[in-house]
Amino acid sequence: MSDNRGNFSGRIGFILAAAGSAVGLGNIWRFPYLAGQNGGAVFLIVYLICVFLLCYPVMIGEIAIGRAAGLDASGSYSKLGGKRWGYLGMFGIIAGIFILSFYNVVAGWAFGYFLHISFGSLLSDGDFGAFFSTFVNDIFDPTSMQGLAGSNLIFSLLFMVATAVIVAQGIQKGIEAANKIMMPALYVILISIIVYALTLPNAMSGVEFYLVPDMSELKWTTVLDGLKQAFFSLSLGMGALITYGSYLKKHENIPGSAAIISVADTSVAFLAGLMVFPLVHFLQFKLGVDNVATAGPPLIFIVLPQIFSEMGPILGRFVGGSFFLLVCFAALTSTISLLEVPVAYLVDSKKMNRKTVVWGLAALIFVLGLPSMVSQGMIPALNKLTFYRGQDFLSFVADMCDISLTVGGCLMCVFIVKQWRIGNLDAELTSGSPTYSTSFLKKYLHFTIGYVCPILLGVLSIMVILEKFIGLENIL
Ligand code: PHE
Repeated sequence: MSDNRGNFSGRIGFILAAAGSAVGLGNIWRFPYLAGQNGGAVFLIVYLICVFLLCYPVMIGEIAIGRAAGLDASGSYSKLGGKRWGYLGMFGIIAGIFILSFYNVVAGWAFGYFLHISFGSLLSDGDFGAFFSTFVNDIFDPTSMQGLAGSNLIFSLLFMVATAVIVAQGIQKGIEAANKIMMPALYVILISIIVYALTLPNAMSGVEFYLVPDMSELKWTTVLDGLKQAFFSLSLGMGALITYGSYLKKHENIPGSAAIISVADTSVAFLAGLMVFPLVHFLQFKLGVDNVATAGPPLIFIVLPQIFSEMGPILGRFVGGSFFLLVCFAALTSTISLLEVPVAYLVDSKKMNRKTVVWGLAALIFVLGLPSMVSQGMIPALNKLTFYRGQDFLSFVADMCDISLTVGGCLMCVFIVKQWRIGNLDAELTSGSPTYSTSFLKKYLHFTIGYVCPILLGVLSIMVILEKFIGLENIL
């Protein structure tokens, strides 16, 4: 069956694609600002524990389910567990559609910033906060862009088109080929900027904030943010890795591949922090202050451009342009995996033509993203949702998706233990990894997938829901 669906050429192709899915805006946009608002090093520790204890087992489970069934997310659950479990796959596919809808908007911002910094006058404009709020509200007014044709509608449309072009080419020629170019490029840019950032004045105080933990910063919100971030960053809980796993050949080693993917993703998040905090502390030094705000989504869109402008017109353009190109690459390798999930579903289950499905879904998801796009101030009702503690629509969709990921991960463990049976998981993992059956890893997975993950993910998911709708400060 897998032959006419397409598959990855081999282990490297799969690992690069899955790591590409994982490495994205989550690592470069979200991780540093969450670390910034959750005490730096403490957040890093919580995050690493979540990856090791909860995410790695879930990742192995997802890849194994996909490869065992050889189908899309919903088809895989139905095939291994009956039609009712297929709904769990559907739940993930729908979550993926909504993630892509808002993700593509933010990716469009990154693309717009890349153009504005490389070719426009953003760096000499001065007021970066004002620029950002005007920018995100500039939905369709090509003339207002300081001579740069385009607006958010165009930026995010172009991003969606790029995603669709790649996915339409199929697994090897599209997804694998794109990742083989973008992933190495991403590492090169990231490491170059870090090396440069570390040479700037006051860089070491940024490193210290990031790496020396202050345990008094540890709060419940730190734990919940760390968990949500780990699931989102590793693309877990919604079937992306079931889908990619379904294109993996039987003789490939799943636990080993999952370990490399987890390490690759975590290292990029870690490195993104190592890039951002020295830059922020350099800015504090330049401005003579010690409280540049690092919390919240604007970190890379407001604080970083200000830093690039401090570097002078030529160097700033170059470093800033490279940075936003890096963000675009990271985002694109993730958007293609997000689009592939519903595409695979319609191709496998409904036997539809791949290209038709790709363009149809891309158009639909682009339209679904429009409310998020206009929720940044342009439409006040969407900017301050009354039923959602006054937050904006984009944050609402993002939060609902976060919740569905941890819930999805929890239910996947229940599926493996109660329906598919852990013995079948073992059999799938032994294929490609003969030493698995006598390994410590086997015991570790039985313990985590059987007990730790479903229980902790269940409890923490409920806490996340309460946090979002009621506010933890009102409960604990
Ligand atoms: N992991 C991606 C990131 O960190 C986002 C993503 C989530 C991609 C879920 C696919 C599925 O940006």
